[in-house]
Amino acid sequence: MARRKMIYEGKAKILYEGPEPGTLVQYFKDDATAFNAEKRDVIEGKGVLNNRLSEFFMTGLANIGIPTHFIRRLNMREQLIRAVEIVPLEVIVRNYAAGTMAKRLGMEEGTQLPRPVVEFSYKNDDLGDPLVPEEYIIAFGWANQQDLDDIIALALRVNDFMSGVMMGVGIKLIDFKIEIGRVYDGDFMRLIIADEISPDSCRLWDIETGQKLDKDVFRRDLGSLTDAYTEVARRLGVLPKTSATGAKPTLIN
Ligand code: CDP
Repeated sequence: MARRKMIYEGKAKILYEGPEPGTLVQYFKDDATAFNAEKRDVIEGKGVLNNRLSEFFMTGLANIGIPTHFIRRLNMREQLIRAVEIVPLEVIVRNYAAGTMAKRLGMEEGTQLPRPVVEFSYKNDDLGDPLVPEEYIIAFGWANQQDLDDIIALALRVNDFMSGVMMGVGIKLIDFKIEIGRVYDGDFMRLIIADEISPDSCRLWDIETGQKLDKDVFRRDLGSLTDAYTEVARRLGVLPKTSATGAKPTLIN
């Protein structure tokens, strides 16, 4: 079989040409990076877990009427997605202070915010994804005011869904990042959720113990990242009977 054409390779995923026009295959790698790729490692099984978790969240969003790029999972590491034109923004929703917000404002991590806050970073690795005000986004033409209003509404709906799902399994959704894509039906443009939704792009804390179950485990050397992601997958019921990596069977009780 001829090798598929690679379209793009990112830090954690590869995009290949899809089987039909307007589709792509998204492959989840085991590579983990943090601090704009200054820290990197290969975490066995991470890609398999994120493939399943992203499928789980995107399918749930579609079920409540939020459009996403996800079409179907193809195998352990790949999913079929709609090709989109990515809006060059990282859309971050925060419920509790953490990470850069806690640092910037001198807040203790875990402080509840008065209401969910949506912020935007300009997607540019060379610049370290700088925080940008809406004024810049509109002035530079990355999105217009109508797009931004729609993106904020979408992000807040995703937040409500994700917060509820997580709360149901004893996890607090501290913050998360999504990316938005444009799809065109003739002249009509729609904004849909793209990229991935996984513990790589969320902060997830156990409600009881405060234990971190997300990429901060890797960023801050807090233990096994695979164990943390497996715990999230196990609680959500998305793990098959054998382990996510297809290796040794694990006990699920
Ligand atoms: O993660 P970091 O402290 O660098 O930045 P943040 O602005 O506090 O991140 C907010 C949320 O967005 C966290 O859940 C991050 O994991 C996520 N994020 C991401 O997935 N990718 C980025 N390039 C930046 C943030």
